[in-house]
Amino acid sequence: MCGIVSYVGEEPKATRLLLQGLKSLEYRGYDSSGIALLNDTLSVYKNKGKILDLEKSLSTLSDEEREKLDQSICGIGHTRWATHGEPSDINAHPHMDSDGTIAVVHNGIIRNYIKLKKELIYKGYTFKSDTDTEVIANLFSYIRKDLIAKGEYEDFLAMRLLSSRLEGSYALAILLNESVNPNSTQPAKRILLAKHESPLVIGVGQLENFAASDSDTVLQFTDGIIRLADCEFAVISKNTIDIQDFEGNVIKPVIEVLKKNDSLMDKKGYKHFLLKEINEQPTVLSKMLSLIEDSTYENFKLINFNINFAEIEKIYCIACGSAYHSAQALKYILGSWCSLPVDVIVASEFNFQHKLIGERDLVIGVSQSGETADTILALQKAKSAGARLLAITNRPASAINNLCGANTYITPADLEISVASTKAYTSQLMAHYLLALQIATARKAISREFFTDILHNLKTLPVLLDQMLNRANHYKAAAVNFAGYRDFIFLSRGINHTTAMEGALKLKELSYAHASAYPSGELKHGPIAILDENVPVISIAIPSIYPDEQIIYEKIIHNALEAKTRKSPSILLTTDSNQDHVEEFDLVMRIPDIDQLFSPILATIPLQFLAYFIAENLGKDVDQPRNLAKSVTVE
Ligand code: AGP
Ligand code: GLU
Repeated sequence: MCGIVSYVGEEPKATRLLLQGLKSLEYRGYDSSGIALLNDTLSVYKNKGKILDLEKSLSTLSDEEREKLDQSICGIGHTRWATHGEPSDINAHPHMDSDGTIAVVHNGIIRNYIKLKKELIYKGYTFKSDTDTEVIANLFSYIRKDLIAKGEYEDFLAMRLLSSRLEGSYALAILLNESVNPNSTQPAKRILLAKHESPLVIGVGQLENFAASDSDTVLQFTDGIIRLADCEFAVISKNTIDIQDFEGNVIKPVIEVLKKNDSLMDKKGYKHFLLKEINEQPTVLSKMLSLIEDSTYENFKLINFNINFAEIEKIYCIACGSAYHSAQALKYILGSWCSLPVDVIVASEFNFQHKLIGERDLVIGVSQSGETADTILALQKAKSAGARLLAITNRPASAINNLCGANTYITPADLEISVASTKAYTSQLMAHYLLALQIATARKAISREFFTDILHNLKTLPVLLDQMLNRANHYKAAAVNFAGYRDFIFLSRGINHTTAMEGALKLKELSYAHASAYPSGELKHGPIAILDENVPVISIAIPSIYPDEQIIYEKIIHNALEAKTRKSPSILLTTDSNQDHVEEFDLVMRIPDIDQLFSPILATIPLQFLAYFIAENLGKDVDQPRNLAKSVTVE
């Protein structure tokens, strides 16, 4: 949540670079935004709304103010996802202390902010906003003044004292007006940074340095990055980068040189990033298959995990949202291929479950961003309980990769900009099939013939998915009929319960309609009560050559017909050649012929399109739906 960007250099380009950086961070939150610039004085410009709204209000400033913007060589910026205080001009970051000598941008939550606020009000500080962040500005101001009065002011000491009072998570960028401290010998134009449980990276340039919440933002400006570790502070000026840990030990910066990222915000001709990302799915899946490290039956390796899969007694998958849905597929696949028990747990509900975990358990964290606070905390708990960890993430430069190290599989889906996940989700599904294959072969649980059949089926998926993209207009026509409904039910069973949950989530996120997913057998246990002609039911029923799965298919069809009997508009999602009962449904959406076991990736595509076109039809903000953020870095 919230994106932070900072720039200090010698050319007057701070405003331009901050705004550019904020645009690429907007996926992290977009309810308000702002910048603070350090010239002779500190100036803050901020408002409710998106970066475009901020740009608009900057363009209406007086000539004198515009001059400041054009001359600035040092500043910080923020795009917000509100946790404390509604989205508003006043609650937007940066926040200043009461005296206007400090400006702060913050990503995270300060849990003890009420206590600190009372203390600071007692000391004479005043507050304008409802945010937890303003406490940081005033507390730092108090600490700074106190140290200056004693002749002891030093940036790192002040930040240590600050962090000793803060409880919670925070990535911070702080600007100081040096007129308060005339004896300072430090470069006046510098930015103070702190990282505690929220992401922050430094970008190293030539006579200019940067900081941002993600490395992709920094990589637009420079190719050298320093990843701050948790509990580290830094002070950057145009030609210095000093880092210390929270104990005051000096840390030698390690600069990684990465490929520069020029096309971060390019929609490549598509109307929305979401549409572009839906269309990228065949390429991502092909890439995954081509990158398998060893595809022989004897030694199958997605990558060389340092885990003896033959010894594992139980697997726990921890994830949130779409990543959680994808992990349900792993549960079905491993249950069916190796009879290995897999529990899939919403990360924020993992709190007490870690007590059940032992050394022979494997805990798999799945996260597109690799920065989801709930997932990171759950993985940390599992680690301290002695479990082996494995991660599936889309972001190499992420906290989850740092935590799980060599046992991290990076899905090659590249940056996903649209807040609603599409290509990252289907890449997670593919990762689960391939990981399951590695586990099943390591445990000698499947025959060579079945192994060959599985790989063959997986290899057909990118081609079939590519063909499905040509059916977008068919899904669009279907969507138009359903755009007016406010409640939807998604039904399936077995492996495609995953798909039902993901379909319902996509529809909720994009169109703001209410949608729930149920294993279809559950319908008669309650949800059927809400069915009538205003509640469409979308049933995902894919036939199978395997007898157990074919029975699942038949049961879904019968549950779907039970819904139809209650007058619900009925949509069936099935395969091209299936003619069974199809005439009984109001609408049939089809995917190419594929066995149920391998169908979730393909079956997700019509549901992505359905959600997209319904949202488009309703005029919703497809790439940045209300109230959401791409990277959920708060608990
Ligand atoms: C997906 O469309 C969502 N926006 C959301 O549910 C997301 O999957 C969830 O927040 C988990 O994010 P992560 O994969 O980055 O951990
Ligand atoms: N807690 C801060 C606010 O509400 C920052 C929120 C965040 O990082 O998500 O303004």
